[in-house]
Amino acid sequence: MSTSWTAFGGDLHLDLTERRAAGAGLRAALEDALREAVQDGRLAPGTRLPSSRALGEDLGVARNTVVEAYGQLTAEGWLSSRQGSGTTVARRAAPEPVRGRRPAARPAPRRATAPYDLTSGRPDLSLFPRTAWLAAARRALATAPHEALDYGSPLGRIELRQALTHYLARVRGVRTDPDHLLVCTGVTQGLGLLCAALRDRGAQSLAVEEYGLPPQHAVVRAAGLATVPVPLDADGVLVDRLDRLDPRAGALLLTPAHQYPTGAALAAERRAAAVRWAREQDRYVIEDDYDGEFRYDRQPLGAMQALDPERVVYAGTTAKSLAPGLRLAWLALPDALVEPVARLKALADTMSPVLDQLTLAELITSGTYDRHVRRCRLHYRRRRDRLVAALAEHAPHVRVTGIAAGLHVVLRLPPGSTPEPELLARAEHFGLSLKGLAWHRAAPAPADTPPALVIGYSTPPDHAFPAAVRALCELLRTA
Ligand SMILES: Cc1ncc(COP(=O)(O)O)c(C=O)c1O
Repeated sequence: MSTSWTAFGGDLHLDLTERRAAGAGLRAALEDALREAVQDGRLAPGTRLPSSRALGEDLGVARNTVVEAYGQLTAEGWLSSRQGSGTTVARRAAPEPVRGRRPAARPAPRRATAPYDLTSGRPDLSLFPRTAWLAAARRALATAPHEALDYGSPLGRIELRQALTHYLARVRGVRTDPDHLLVCTGVTQGLGLLCAALRDRGAQSLAVEEYGLPPQHAVVRAAGLATVPVPLDADGVLVDRLDRLDPRAGALLLTPAHQYPTGAALAAERRAAAVRWAREQDRYVIEDDYDGEFRYDRQPLGAMQALDPERVVYAGTTAKSLAPGLRLAWLALPDALVEPVARLKALADTMSPVLDQLTLAELITSGTYDRHVRRCRLHYRRRRDRLVAALAEHAPHVRVTGIAAGLHVVLRLPPGSTPEPELLARAEHFGLSLKGLAWHRAAPAPADTPPALVIGYSTPPDHAFPAAVRALCELLRTA
């Protein structure tokens, strides 16, 4: 005998079967189950319980049994009951852990310990367009057919795939259509699915840029592929090294618009050479366009995918343009990868959540997303300009490298400066949380590599940004 409700705002599962089997009477079993739900915090103070009639029906017990159980728990102080407002969990019924049970420990949120967070990777979350998102969500839900709430295609909602087809073509030059787009929960998930699909085709490794995102490399390895670093220079990855690659490398992972983290834009002839390599060797390029909308000095180069949509997988995300917590991203896939990647997506989680997809589709088709991105671009450009100006004034020995784009810069210190690990330790004394360039290397750096810092300028809120920049300049002045 068990039931679960959602009628009062949250699921609650009550199982009387074991208690009954242990010989408890119906009323005692119900009281015990409710008491336990309050004690272990599953029923929070203030939660409204179902009416005695509804609960009785759900459990298949007489209404009176429920009335009596509620009465007993009210007398004990667990519940409170007021005429006209039903029965609720008492405000003071503090959830004391009982019988050795403790609320599960929550993983600590990813947060810098120092007051000034200049680690890279996150946007200014205060820019999230809450009002516009709410309005779009309301419109999307009001107009969505019932069928939209059902299980659906692992590729994602057609409304979003259609909106993305036009948006990506217009803004990034991507050549795709709704049948070749797959909505996923992040570039992270998309990359994992692609690696698994490549592994199923016999690949044993993935070529990656020598500097990149270690958690991405971990995803590649978790999918069963080794990572093979390819060196970089100021124009991006050295494509002439590709011919020396492990023949079982199924693809090359690139950040061509804005190399992460070094900030290079992949030179046009290298883009062409990488695509030629993929074509001639029956491999793929995975284009991670994580911050492609944010270029400040000129129009960005269009997506590399347009050079050959059958050889380049395009990956885009809302992690920088909206918020990483949305977990909403997309892949534009070559024909041959649509079926295997969609199959793996279905295995992973059936499909991505529908309501956010519909909301984003609405945001894009209404033009609100464009306006939001433009506003963010201006904001981040100003931040970058302020940072670069402050460094030029207070730490002129430091070189700011990389194109004017994205949400981070790389600062290179002259040879002979304080070594990177020591600099990072010192940063904490200045109240700064940051990462060195070495952390981003796919293989350990040579010992004589001069120190460099990867500075994310988007994360601090506006009021903290000037102080964060001052602290950084102070650190660098003494480095
Ligand atoms: C290089 C790079 N790729 C992709 C992403 C976004 O990944 P996801 O869409 O899984 O949040 C980030 C975010 O920090 C990134 O730095």
